[in-house]
Amino acid sequence: MHNNHRRVAIVDGCRTPFAKAGTLFKHLTAYELGRIATVELLNRTELDPNEIDEVIFGTVIPTIKTSNIAREIALDAGIPKHVPAFSVARACASANQAIVSAAEAIMVGRCDTVIAGGAESLSDPPILFSPAMRQAFLKASKAKSLGEKIGAFRGIGWRDLAPEAPAIAERVTGLTMGESAEKMAKENGISREEQDRFAYRSHRLAAAATDDGRLTREIVPTHVPPDFTITVKSDNGIRRDTSLEALAALPPVFDRQYGSVTAGNSSPLTDGASALLIMSEEKAKALGYEPLGYIRSYAFAALSPWEQLLMGPAYAAPVALDRAGLTLKDMDLIEMHEAFAAQVLSNIRAFESRTFAREKLGREEPLGEVDMEKVNVCGGSIAIGHPFGATGGRLTITILNELKRRGGQFGLITVCAAGAMGFAMVVERE
Ligand SMILES: CC(C)(COP(=O)(O)OP(=O)(O)OC[C@H]1O[C@@H](n2cnc3c(N)ncnc32)[C@H](O)[C@@H]1OP(=O)(O)O)[C@@H](O)C(=O)NCCC(=O)NCCS
Repeated sequence: MHNNHRRVAIVDGCRTPFAKAGTLFKHLTAYELGRIATVELLNRTELDPNEIDEVIFGTVIPTIKTSNIAREIALDAGIPKHVPAFSVARACASANQAIVSAAEAIMVGRCDTVIAGGAESLSDPPILFSPAMRQAFLKASKAKSLGEKIGAFRGIGWRDLAPEAPAIAERVTGLTMGESAEKMAKENGISREEQDRFAYRSHRLAAAATDDGRLTREIVPTHVPPDFTITVKSDNGIRRDTSLEALAALPPVFDRQYGSVTAGNSSPLTDGASALLIMSEEKAKALGYEPLGYIRSYAFAALSPWEQLLMGPAYAAPVALDRAGLTLKDMDLIEMHEAFAAQVLSNIRAFESRTFAREKLGREEPLGEVDMEKVNVCGGSIAIGHPFGATGGRLTITILNELKRRGGQFGLITVCAAGAMGFAMVVERE
């Protein structure tokens, strides 16, 4: 993919700790989290902010006041005011989209240096009035007398007072992400035990990677408002107390009677942000950087939301690997976003299935057997957490740091996303 274009370097990246929604970061907005990650990135890389050509951030549930969150982050992070910024949304692959948008701006020569990432606060989602209340407020705002203002609310009943929170559900099917994971578990025969074992693995590996510093080195120690006496240095969703027995005892959440998806084998609602410095190879080298890695190829995919909603990675990964001229075997590491254990395990089955390859992809051969020793070696979103807009940045930073540490060459990143979409990227070291 990159052969006809300028090579794109991922110079460095970092992120805030990830915190379960409603906990440590409940007083921080998404743009504040984005600013924290961006300021640290600028400090770590000692980049002259005048070098920056553009700022791109992904977010999934924006607030009405900061719909172009990238611009707010750039302004607060001290990036020169003349640097343009825009925001992107591609559900859970939003930070991946920000990175790809940066890469494409660099490939065609429009930019040399871009800050890209994602930010999300699920502690503070926008909660709306009902349509009837909204109409009444609008009418009242145009009223010319107190009587007219009061009259605007005539006909409003108790039901209209109920607020509307954003649903983590598909508009067209009405199914939540959790219900979609349930459907995948059932249709693919992924047992509760398998899901719990995978979740346990995620916590164990994330705890080990926190203890030995592999995860914490990508994290900006963050002081917590309002009194800033607490400094968070690691992700608070990682549970050292969990066990297979504790996981097995949790009730299913999305199908209480026959289900297998629980709070333990799902990713939690999370706050956090990630930021990466993306440059053309020439520019990075001219400035004396030793990039963490390079983008070799990527692919997006989409299927019908009426099918298995979170199977996007199984469609996107073969295309990204083809574009890279590589196979699954060539990958030293694989970083898969863990929305739910059932979703990761379903995609891994599809990677390995000849029937899936033939029937869904029109390919003779499956992608290949997945060596679990290479998958999410620092744990994944189930334990670390999943701030929707930021996760793609975390996956990219984690895999590149770990490839560097191990002396590996190639890595595959996959992300499933609402709307039945998928993303895959192949990254490489020098
Ligand atoms: C699944 C979900 C509804 C659970 O939310 P929740 O009930 O607030 O979750 P909690 O963290 O409070 O966990 C519920 C219980 O399980 C327990 N638990 C959770 N994980 C556990 C683990 N690994 N080991 C042991 N116990 C665990 C908690 O301690 C808690 O117990 P308590 O009720 O005794 O306090 C929520 O995390 C969710 O919606 N996740 C999916 C998000 C999503 O759709 N993402 C999109 C993906 S693309």
